[in-house]
Amino acid sequence: MVFNASIRYLHERLTIDDVDLESIVNEVGTPAYVYSLARIRDNLGRLKAALAPVHACLHFSVKANGNLDVLRTLRDAGAGFDCVSGGEIFRALKAGAAAEDIVFAGVGKTRAEIEYAINSGVGWINAENLGELAHIEAMAAEAGLQAVQVALRLNPQVTANTHPYMATGHGAAKFGLTCDVIRQVLNDQQRYPRLDFAGIHLHIGSQLGDSAATLAALDKLLALARDFPQITTINLGGGLPVAYRFGEVPPALEPLAAEVARRLKPYSVLLEPGRSIVADAGVLVAEVLYVKRQAGQTFVIVDVSMAELIRPALYGAHHEIVPLRQAYDETISTQVVGPVCESADVLARDRDLPPLKPGDKIALMTAGAYGMTMASNYNARPRPPEVVVDGDRWWVSRRREAITDMI
Ligand code: LLP
Repeated sequence: MVFNASIRYLHERLTIDDVDLESIVNEVGTPAYVYSLARIRDNLGRLKAALAPVHACLHFSVKANGNLDVLRTLRDAGAGFDCVSGGEIFRALKAGAAAEDIVFAGVGKTRAEIEYAINSGVGWINAENLGELAHIEAMAAEAGLQAVQVALRLNPQVTANTHPYMATGHGAAKFGLTCDVIRQVLNDQQRYPRLDFAGIHLHIGSQLGDSAATLAALDKLLALARDFPQITTINLGGGLPVAYRFGEVPPALEPLAAEVARRLKPYSVLLEPGRSIVADAGVLVAEVLYVKRQAGQTFVIVDVSMAELIRPALYGAHHEIVPLRQAYDETISTQVVGPVCESADVLARDRDLPPLKPGDKIALMTAGAYGMTMASNYNARPRPPEVVVDGDRWWVSRRREAITDMI
């Protein structure tokens, strides 16, 4: 059985590229995140090919996966980075990114973060409120800079077809500036002599179900940008969807790329994909601790919880679960739960799985995006290690936290 070009059963063992996952966790233990660098390169390559007509410059969204080996791999493959904190800028630079290949975004950048970004020389700052523009202007003056490139983030007042927690472009969302406010800023540019308002930024949400809202938002953006010839660059954000369920096929990118290319011909284009590059390149491996049968239910209690993978608890997200050793038994309806003291700590509800027993290892699939980056130390649980696989080699890229790291 093949899940994607890098993750499949080979001789009945779940394999990531040329490495048997069980051989990794036998050494590093569970829970453990494991990423395929080959799959990440592949995903980036396929995205670039599908988007070729747009001539876009891709900035990987570090919030999806901030692992240094992942970032280095993407840098080597020519990607820039979308960062939303001083911590993410630090990571991108540490991974060897050139500062000008970094865009710095975020609803609430601190003065210290803006100063760090400016002094590092990031390529763009995506700004989303007037107070922030004043800070950038003041810090540019302090640093003696003449032209800091700023992209104003547009809130197009368009609702994306996605989970409500991932929709960012509607009027009630905290993100971006409305059309009117952007017009005011651009008409009033002399107030910001050291800012070069050369771009408009747009990101209406993540795991977007279709492209209708994106194109509607883009049309609003273009109506605005046309009136201001200094706008040369459009940053379209991220949001490209991935398949989380077996058999699901995300919509083809080419038709969207053609529409975008047609509309954005006169502009330079930036994109900030995160999930679509890393999600299906990663798994989170867990071990079954106990099986409890009561009240007509089968609870499989594993050593992964909402602390290591919060997506099911937070969004009701679906992650497929497969045993590391291929099983052919009849499936039974199972509740896969973690050890954390929260009723929301359920990784899979009423999931048809082969019978599992203590000691069995399972993989939570499509965990390469927003997995480790959203992990916490809730219940004083050390965060898992991150292992990367490159062909037939693998190594621990980031070690498991120790309980002494947490105090
Ligand atoms: N650009 C901006 C301004 C963003 O806010 C985001 C994601 C991206 C790019 C990358 O979007 P992507 O290509 O990954 O969809 N924690 C949630 C996802 C939240 C996304 C936040 N912003 C999840 O686990 O699904």
